[in-house]
Amino acid sequence: MEYFKICGGKKLSGQISVHGAKNSALPILASTLLIKGESVIHNCPDLSDVRVTLDILKSLGCKVKREKSTVLVDASVVDNNEISEHTMRTMRSSIIFLSALLSRQGSASIFYPGGCEIGTRPIDLHLKAFHDLGADVSVNGSSINACATSIIGTKIILPFPSVGTTENIIIASAISKGKTIIVNPAREPEISDLADFLNHCGAKIYGAGESTIVIDGVKRLDACEHTIIPDRILASTYMSLGAVCSKELTVKNIRQSHLSPVFPVFTEMGCKIYLSDNSLTLVSPKKLKRVRSIKTMPYPGFPTDSQSPVAVALALAKGTSILQETIFENRFRYVSELNRFGTDIEIKDNIAVINGVDKLHSANVNATDLRGGAALVVAALCANGESNIYGIEHIDRGYENLENALSSIGADIKRSKNEGETNAKASKKEIE
Ligand code: EPZ
Repeated sequence: MEYFKICGGKKLSGQISVHGAKNSALPILASTLLIKGESVIHNCPDLSDVRVTLDILKSLGCKVKREKSTVLVDASVVDNNEISEHTMRTMRSSIIFLSALLSRQGSASIFYPGGCEIGTRPIDLHLKAFHDLGADVSVNGSSINACATSIIGTKIILPFPSVGTTENIIIASAISKGKTIIVNPAREPEISDLADFLNHCGAKIYGAGESTIVIDGVKRLDACEHTIIPDRILASTYMSLGAVCSKELTVKNIRQSHLSPVFPVFTEMGCKIYLSDNSLTLVSPKKLKRVRSIKTMPYPGFPTDSQSPVAVALALAKGTSILQETIFENRFRYVSELNRFGTDIEIKDNIAVINGVDKLHSANVNATDLRGGAALVVAALCANGESNIYGIEHIDRGYENLENALSSIGADIKRSKNEGETNAKASKKEIE
């Protein structure tokens, strides 16, 4: 099993670049199924979740090619409408193919993606939306079969601005009869990026990023080229790292507006943020200040995906901070591993009480999920001494070549392989 070997305690500095957004690439790649031609997607990150998505497209009959950060998907021929249960459980966001297959093939056979480390991840809102759009959806155990002779536009009021559900409705109704109106949609930038891609292909999607989205169904879409937006969650992870491990760090390839929900937290911690066109420079104070209270919310609120790396910064701030998670029921699972580094974080229900400490010490830990794993990397880079982080397959889902990116700003981090040690418990080194 691979693991990260990190020698922490070094001051990092320089410039680090942000790659394309995972949570934009996945729905956009799935939606290329709607197009009988070759879509060209630039700035597509090379992540394990993206590779699974490209494998699904190939299994459905598409021709897929990657040229550096550009991916070409030719969906002229699609001759399959099934996705295996193993694949669905490997990457639960493959639920996004339900809309693409229904639209292209008129039917889809998939499976319940199942929960993951951060929550049960139900799909009730997705299934109800497909029903509202005129699809016949049957669930039998863990298998889901859906068919629709044609998708009929309708008004859908979402009780919660679910990102995946909003994306599934947009993809399902881009090619359809009539008009679909989504009330209370998710407003994340990734929704707007998906709408931009589909509109470049000839769709008529209005109001993405706002409180109501209107989709005038069209008959067909034509292939186009599209550049994926920068990954705002990766950028906020680098900002958290900069806040605790560097005096000054420049993060390149950002969209300022996408990061506006996190800027106030870093300025309240005492960081100075200097913005230029598509980059920011974060200057950190000698000692970070606590943040009285942070609550994760749907965009444009503070993102749930940014909370774990920010928790590391707060763990080294002066004073006590309160971090409330409102999106996922189990998103603090990383805290027990984080406390092995000497942080002092107590969890009560969905609230983390973070008591700042002076410094962290090395530890051997297991990553349990993608963003929690990133937080452990940040902690290991702050901690004096050598730490090992196991379970980095979680991290590889959303952070491309993280060790190379971090090495470019002076981090001492290596990807190692050791058949024997599969997790922190098996490692020889005494766990603190
Ligand atoms: C997307 O997940 C992202 N994943 C997540 O990022 C992100 O944390 C989340 O949106 C919130 O911003 C991708 O885009 C691939 P939701 P998604 O539907 O679509 C409940 C990462 O680290 N819900 O907005 O699954 C659900 O249980 C990942 O990059 C239902 O109850 O999020 C959760 O509590 C993690 N029924 C809340 O809504 C449903 O049918 C948010 O879910 C659907 C969702």
